[in-house]
Amino acid sequence: MSLWGGRFVGGSSNMFRRVNDSLPFDQVLASQDIRGSIAWSRAICQAGVITDAEQQQLQDALQALLKQAEQGSLDFAASGEEDIHSFVEAALIEQLGDLGRKLHTGRSRNDQVATDFRLWCKEHVTLLRTDLKQVIEALVNAAERHSTAILPGYTHLQRAQPVRFPHWCLAYVEMLKRDASRLADLSQRMDQSPLGCGALAGTTYAIDRQAIADELGFASPCLNSLDAVSDRDYVLELLFAASTSMMHLSRMAEDLIFFNSGEAGFIRLGDSVTSGSSLMPQKKNPDALELMRGKCGRVFGSLQALLVTMKGLPLAYNKDMQEDKEGAFDAVNQWHICLCIGAEVLDSLTLDEQRCAQAAREGYANATELADYLVGKGIPFRTAHDISGQVVLHALEQQCAIEDLPLSALQAICPDIGEDVYPVLQLEYLVDKRNILGGTGKAPVAAALKHAKRYLQEFV
Ligand code: ARG
Repeated sequence: MSLWGGRFVGGSSNMFRRVNDSLPFDQVLASQDIRGSIAWSRAICQAGVITDAEQQQLQDALQALLKQAEQGSLDFAASGEEDIHSFVEAALIEQLGDLGRKLHTGRSRNDQVATDFRLWCKEHVTLLRTDLKQVIEALVNAAERHSTAILPGYTHLQRAQPVRFPHWCLAYVEMLKRDASRLADLSQRMDQSPLGCGALAGTTYAIDRQAIADELGFASPCLNSLDAVSDRDYVLELLFAASTSMMHLSRMAEDLIFFNSGEAGFIRLGDSVTSGSSLMPQKKNPDALELMRGKCGRVFGSLQALLVTMKGLPLAYNKDMQEDKEGAFDAVNQWHICLCIGAEVLDSLTLDEQRCAQAAREGYANATELADYLVGKGIPFRTAHDISGQVVLHALEQQCAIEDLPLSALQAICPDIGEDVYPVLQLEYLVDKRNILGGTGKAPVAAALKHAKRYLQEFV
């Protein structure tokens, strides 16, 4: 039965039901809707709308429904109801008759859905922060497994300067820390209770909105009823956080896919997170990583879709806003899955440290070092850069590394170069010289790793 019987003579068309009904997807809000309803029953009891005994009856019936919701035993499909709100109300009416019909006094589905969805978002913020923590932990563990490994660092996907592997790991730790802090930040803004705002203008009943907020775990009530029922910023912020974090995960995935390629051969991935080819027996494909990269499309799409849906909507509630859910449910779910699989991939990963070091030695990654060495001899950097470039050109012609050129060849290009250049050109030396705060030298990387571990210990 629909919720608006009196004013209507005719029923809804089947096609209208298809476009209008949200129960097929908003059923995931069952437990939030029931908890909100329990809080509301208490509020209207305090306001004198129902007696204590009636409130108790409503609460008992709602608790029983909550249990069923948690067990997954509610039969949504058979109910024929429009949405989760009418489903819960219909279930109450079926059990309690006229008492069930009293619950909606002073309440609207508009403040109800806003409350349910905020509760859902808040709960998922907690879950996603735990997921992020797990990926950070996996990165720290990978860094510790290969604490001294060195691999080429890239710009323009050209070998640029060597970096320690933990430094690479900790770059993603920084990104994921920002993602976790974004969630903590936005969860404060969504921490307000819309219940009691009614359809749009508030309610005539003496509802204690702070008491409802307290009961549902919100910090405070929303301050404007028009805004409370029409605001979806909290969903947008969550989708932005999801999109940004998925972008980070996809960059990490892309790095790892490249590291895993036959050409680079820096890492090996576990069998549990890779797949074979139906045709080519030798293949071991990094599918989990490709999907972390690939799922960005739908997550970014959900953010864009909701922005467009909300744009230009007049105050207050409009049915357009029912379109807020499917994209958000999907984006949050995909983000959650990608964080979980991301941690698994990192746990499974091993580095071929020798191959990494070999690659870091190739490609003239120590050319900057040679220039810096010449600066030490009193040559201006721009000139030193030019000289180092000439040395690289000569080494390329000889098909060898800079450090393999004899001193006479180096001195033919620049007489200021001495025997003391050779230790400077060694991999460990040039990496560890970058011992500035935030750099890739052994000391700052060890300090950063310690810092990351403290972050994990203090994570709340
Ligand atoms: N299913 C609706 C939604 O998700 C609930 C609110 C309906 N409100 C209304 N006035 N029709 O947005």
